Amino acid sequence: MGGYTLIENASLVSRNTLRVDARAKLLAEIRDAARLPELLDFPAVREGRLLVLGEGSNLLFTGDFDGTVLAMHTRGVHVEQDGDVARIAVAAGERWDDFVRWTLGQGYAGLENLILIPGTVGAAPIQNIGAYGTEVAEFIESVEAWDTREGRVATLGRAACAFGYRDSVFKREPGRYIVTAVRFALPRTHELKLDYAGIREELARMGVDRPAPFHVAEAVVHLRTRKLPDPAVIGNAGSFFKNPLVDAATGEALRRAHPELVAWPGADGRWKLSAAWLIEAAGFKGLREGDAGISNRHALVLVNHGHASGPQLWALARRVIDGVIAMFGVRLEPEPVVIGTD
Ligand code: EPU
Repeated sequence: MGGYTLIENASLVSRNTLRVDARAKLLAEIRDAARLPELLDFPAVREGRLLVLGEGSNLLFTGDFDGTVLAMHTRGVHVEQDGDVARIAVAAGERWDDFVRWTLGQGYAGLENLILIPGTVGAAPIQNIGAYGTEVAEFIESVEAWDTREGRVATLGRAACAFGYRDSVFKREPGRYIVTAVRFALPRTHELKLDYAGIREELARMGVDRPAPFHVAEAVVHLRTRKLPDPAVIGNAGSFFKNPLVDAATGEALRRAHPELVAWPGADGRWKLSAAWLIEAAGFKGLREGDAGISNRHALVLVNHGHASGPQLWALARRVIDGVIAMFGVRLEPEPVVIGTD
């Protein structure tokens, strides 16, 4: 019925995986992206701020949202076979993990390392989701979006998306684009990425010596389930901090001072440091202040043990950031979008 539903003064508590009890002045549930222009033209919507929400698995509300939240509930997957490559257009509101499992069931390769990541397909390009050595950008051909600045539909090819580590044009120009669909190009076979710590060991444990994509997916499911707290059980938004990139001199000095530091060399001489290691070494793993905490399973994950508010969670995150600066001189950046930061 209709292409969207509007709700005033809506609770967002069940719409963000950190389970913060924030409210939106207006919430629009969108089932038909073609109706977006009409919706965006309502004075109440046009004059206020906009926030696009998928499953809310990568954001922290530090207060109520005094504008319109667009919850994308659009559905649909369309495949065109092009030789050995499948070109698949997927509506923004589809669940990412369902889509990954569907591709594996169809015999398409590429997304196996990205199984079990929470969130929607439309959110995947925003922060260029990545895990176990794969970033989604590699398999994205283009992104379709409503460009609120130009007032028209835009198709951004991979280069225009300007993907980086947990980054894209969509993240750098917040509020400009409303992603409506993502077009993927997936091969039938490709070189599996098995080098990330733990994958080969897990495959060996499973007794697999000639892995297919679905074996790798199963290994990733085992690793993630062991390491990361399940948002259905305890409120969290996955990694709350990005792994910081530092220049060569800083990286080498830190490695000399802390031989056990976990760090990966970057192509340009820089070092990517393990934020989890820094946080654990600074003594924050498992810390709890009221209901806000740092997971005792993984130091990168900020958790809500019950009824922590957005400001309480953000205060704890800032305590971690300050503590890591004091000990290592490195500034951690939040990975999720923080809404309403002071
Ligand atoms: N480590 C610790 N303490 C911990 C956890 C990890 O010291 O509590 C150290 C370990 O030495 C470990 C290293 O950190 O070897 C790396 O840990 P892990 O393999 O869990 O990866 P990560 O760098 O912490 C990144 C992504 C995750 C992704 C994993 C696996 C970021 C910010 N996070 O975490 O992505 O699942 O790699 O590829 O890049 C997410 O973005 O929400 C997310 C979960």
